[in-house]
Amino acid sequence: MLRARVERWWPDLLAGLTPLYGAQRAPMLAADLVGLASAAYAARPDRLHVRDLERMLRPDWLQDPEMVGYAAYTERFAGHLRRVADHLPYLRELGVTYLHLMPLLRPRHGDNDGGYAVVDYRAVREDLGTMNDLEVLATRVHDAGMSLVLDLVLNHVAREHEWARRARDGDPAYRTYFHVFPDRSGPDAYERTLPEVFPDFAPGNFTWDDALEGWVWTTFNEFQWDVNWGNPAVLREYASIILDLANRGVDVLRLDAIAFMWKRLGTDCQGQPEVHAITQVLRAVTRIACPSVAFLAEAIVAPTKLLDYLGSGSYSGKVSDLAYHNSLMVQVWSMLASRDVRLAERALNGLPPKPPSATWLTYLRCHDDIGWAVMDDDAAVVGLGGHAHRSFLARWYAGEVPGSPARGLVFQHNRDTDDRRTSGTAASLVGLESAATPEDVDRAASALRLAHAMVLGWGGIPVLWSGDELGQPNDPDWAAEPGHEDDNRWAHRPRLDWVRAEQRHDRTTVPGRVFTDLVELVRARTRLPHLHGSVETRIGPVDDPGVLVTLREHPVGRFVGVHNVTPEWRCWPGRRVHDLGVADAEDEITGEPLPWGGDGNVWLPPYAVLWLTTDGP
Ligand code: GLC
Repeated sequence: MLRARVERWWPDLLAGLTPLYGAQRAPMLAADLVGLASAAYAARPDRLHVRDLERMLRPDWLQDPEMVGYAAYTERFAGHLRRVADHLPYLRELGVTYLHLMPLLRPRHGDNDGGYAVVDYRAVREDLGTMNDLEVLATRVHDAGMSLVLDLVLNHVAREHEWARRARDGDPAYRTYFHVFPDRSGPDAYERTLPEVFPDFAPGNFTWDDALEGWVWTTFNEFQWDVNWGNPAVLREYASIILDLANRGVDVLRLDAIAFMWKRLGTDCQGQPEVHAITQVLRAVTRIACPSVAFLAEAIVAPTKLLDYLGSGSYSGKVSDLAYHNSLMVQVWSMLASRDVRLAERALNGLPPKPPSATWLTYLRCHDDIGWAVMDDDAAVVGLGGHAHRSFLARWYAGEVPGSPARGLVFQHNRDTDDRRTSGTAASLVGLESAATPEDVDRAASALRLAHAMVLGWGGIPVLWSGDELGQPNDPDWAAEPGHEDDNRWAHRPRLDWVRAEQRHDRTTVPGRVFTDLVELVRARTRLPHLHGSVETRIGPVDDPGVLVTLREHPVGRFVGVHNVTPEWRCWPGRRVHDLGVADAEDEITGEPLPWGGDGNVWLPPYAVLWLTTDGP
């Protein structure tokens, strides 16, 4: 078994290592990695070998419409790793099959960027439990029919990590684990083309360290030291960490901030080709030892760059299995704010198709802010100014535009570029928080259902952020916690409100309405093979700028999603309904017939959604 896998993946290993470290060193490095993988294979528990086999027999497991994700901080969801299992029935009720527990490997004390500053990848955060608790939980998660997803922070470590400590102690081998410059000439040369990720609280990309007597690369916060992937010893360390987590039962690794892993002078140091070569190598290592493990690329990049993380050119199908569809996320919010689908039609239809074996992760929002990634060219084609529209979205979702019911917060206003990002829970952004009348509540809840329908009906794994299933608003006390006061992303990372959760079956309450709407959507999704993730979604012709039509041509039949993104009644022309072959279809979500008007057109109520299918092409 192992031998067959090594034979299968050896060429991918070599092909990935060669551009990174040269043709001469590549075979030796590959042999060393095979040694690591073989040892991990031998140590892998039998039940995980069975999981490997099951998933090799179903290589499209991530694309199954049954896949529904949920992301939460362990402490904010359940308090402790040992108590997460108590809440698995709640997640099952929602249809969850993919559980992402936010960073829980041991972080530095004090501010740690929500766990993204790791001091020890082989230990769990003290107050959340132990590695043994994690292993036990992984088994419970598997038994409940779910996969366990964890973050792997591979662009940086905490400055208190052992590698950094040794570098500071003067060990030259560890100094080369980082990008260290003796004076400002290197940093200044790079800074000319580098953007800033956190201009507000962490300006610049380099931090002086007295012990190192040098400037160290810190893309994010100054306590997060970027590691040097140009050093093959770093790659070996991470390969070993991945194999360790895999053997504890982790199914999917979220490759955090993957775009930043390779630096090149004169560029923005994001998405360099070497990033994909590294991913290919790490993937080949896991395919040898633990093929049930998948990679999720966290690359929040321009729409045109997104596809590279699922593999383009020679990397097609060889890098990450999953990637965040941040372009869809942005367009959903853009459609709701502008009540117009033309930009979305342009931007989403402009994306080249992904490799059929790769899968989108779709989401309405996550633990991070929303960056308004609208391309100037796309905006221009539909008569908008790129900057003006991005600025409109940031102001709309901060509730600054007259008529906006949103209650988001501006995150990282960059005064040089006037770029503004947005924080907020789905409920606060959509207007549930500010709703003063039953009509307001109805409107906002319908808009949220519509937004969720787009995310669940796109194809790929929809991932819900904890609390959004109950319509939880922003946490008003987000700034009260030490270390959080400058980072308003904490506003949208509330503790799950279990009292609120008790209302989830009562549709007269906001939590009940949001939760039952979601359950209905999840059930419909699960029944529809048309939503298999291998199939591309296209946006259909725009007959009314307020109506988005999505089309999926699956061998079992066509899927047509119809979305009125406005708070008004809108018309879907009868001739189009007939052309698409869905005139007699019933809505797959509710079982209701089409809302035909007496005039031969379909009339869509405010924020209506229809999922329609045909039998056969
Ligand atoms: C990713 C995380 C974000 C974090 C950053 C640095 O983008 O999602 O929360 O701040 O990486 O690790």
